[in-house]
Amino acid sequence: MEEFVAIVLAAGLGTRMKSRIPKVMHEICGRPMVSYVLDAVEAAGATRVIVVVGHGADLVKQAVGSRGECVLQAEQLGTGHAVMKAESVLGDYDGTVAVVAGDAAFLSGDDLAALVDGHQESGAAATVLSAVLDDPTGYGRIIRGTQGEIVRIVEEKDASPEEAAITEVNSSIYCFSARSLFDALRDVAPDNAQGEYYLTDVIGIMIGRGLRVRVVRARDPLSARGINTRVQLAEAERILRDRVRERLMLSGVTLIDPPSTFIDADVTVGRDTVILPFTFLQGKTAIGEGCTIGPFVRMVDTQVADGASVSNAVVVESTIGPGATVGPYSFLRPGTVLEERAKVGTFVEVKKSTIGKGSKVPHQTYLGDATVGEGVNIGAGTITCNYDGWQKHPTIIEDGVFIGSNSNLVAPVKVGKGAYVAAGSTITRDVPEGALGIARGIQKEIPGWVQRRLERRNKAEGHGGKGHGGHSSKESGGLRNE
Ligand code: UD1
Ligand code: CA
Repeated sequence: MEEFVAIVLAAGLGTRMKSRIPKVMHEICGRPMVSYVLDAVEAAGATRVIVVVGHGADLVKQAVGSRGECVLQAEQLGTGHAVMKAESVLGDYDGTVAVVAGDAAFLSGDDLAALVDGHQESGAAATVLSAVLDDPTGYGRIIRGTQGEIVRIVEEKDASPEEAAITEVNSSIYCFSARSLFDALRDVAPDNAQGEYYLTDVIGIMIGRGLRVRVVRARDPLSARGINTRVQLAEAERILRDRVRERLMLSGVTLIDPPSTFIDADVTVGRDTVILPFTFLQGKTAIGEGCTIGPFVRMVDTQVADGASVSNAVVVESTIGPGATVGPYSFLRPGTVLEERAKVGTFVEVKKSTIGKGSKVPHQTYLGDATVGEGVNIGAGTITCNYDGWQKHPTIIEDGVFIGSNSNLVAPVKVGKGAYVAAGSTITRDVPEGALGIARGIQKEIPGWVQRRLERRNKAEGHGGKGHGGHSSKESGGLRNE
């Protein structure tokens, strides 16, 4: 293959999406639509990638990043107008230009490479990728002459009933020789139902000039499909998710129930990891080997090391170490780091905290802005009081500490190495290494209290009998201090 330049059209709003955000920024499997098109042009080997941006230009530019050069189409006057905007960037480049609509999310690098190859070998001025669709609604139709040769492309809104009945459609994926393309674009006029400069018109114009135009049918009609509505977006999601699941299963990951397992395109999962039903792995999540994830887990941008297990949990921007266990019913918020074999259990919320090697936070706890050392045991109901209503403060719990159940650690505070905190304490000062920190009301026992209370009550009710009487709601609230 000789070199080629790709132009990606991504300036439109996508009116049919009924959205405030530009169409190409809508996500499929956690990635913006336009990123799939960039994948395809990169994989096919484009030497330069020019992305025409307009609606939501800043958002689209951000998504494109260093993957392409963005040119602005400030007013979206049509696909032909969009391509014209790319001309200035290309200067007097005279090679092959591949043009791809930014909503052609199903295009693969192989398909595009084959199209470019065929185009270059043929020496044609243009090659159009077409497909025969059961339902061609919304697409431009390929009009062929008596010899089966392409004559022009007609948009659905401009088509006669006979033309609209044609099921061979334009994919909006083309190859051109650069000069023929830009020359033909000069003759395109907005004299159509939408008042736009149609890129599709260059086909008829080139043919009128005696240039050769080829049509190549897509091997898989899916690769020619665009995404215009949310219904088509959901369909794309379903199809691409299936591909993700299949790729992972073939690479050695067990999905117990693929249809209820939702994995974003950029997620990686190691071999022999088992993913149980109703699990969502999103964003840049990366899971190691031999893990058990699910059921009912939602994980976003999280790293999980080998051998970890997570069930019934929401985990966001966190790191889970080798052999660590999470859940059931845990919420790990951004900045949580669990080191090797750490355990976070039932009804535990952790935010921006590190939990050291082998340390356990098994039940009903909130840890925020905490640094927990190795071999620590955090009792049920422990709370780090990290917020004073104004600022957040750190809690440091050193190696080997034991925090008794139902303790409050009022930050900033430190519990030194090997120290104990007595159950039910509200710790407001540092506890030195090896000490017991105890901060709670002192218990006393009042002998005979129950009997005396009974007697008092019986007297008040006027019967001298002994033993327990029936309960009334009045009595249950009537405890007095003695
Ligand atoms: C286009 C084709 C149609 C084809 C279909 C395939 C034209 C006139 N029609 O129609 O023949 O069957 O794709 O999916 O080309 N865009 C711009 N600037 C604009 C207008 C659009 O950059 O001024 C971009 C859009 O962001 C989009 C792409 O071009 O990514 C295609 O535009 P869209 O409105 O989806 O075209 P269709 O009506 O689907
Ligand atoms: Ca489209």
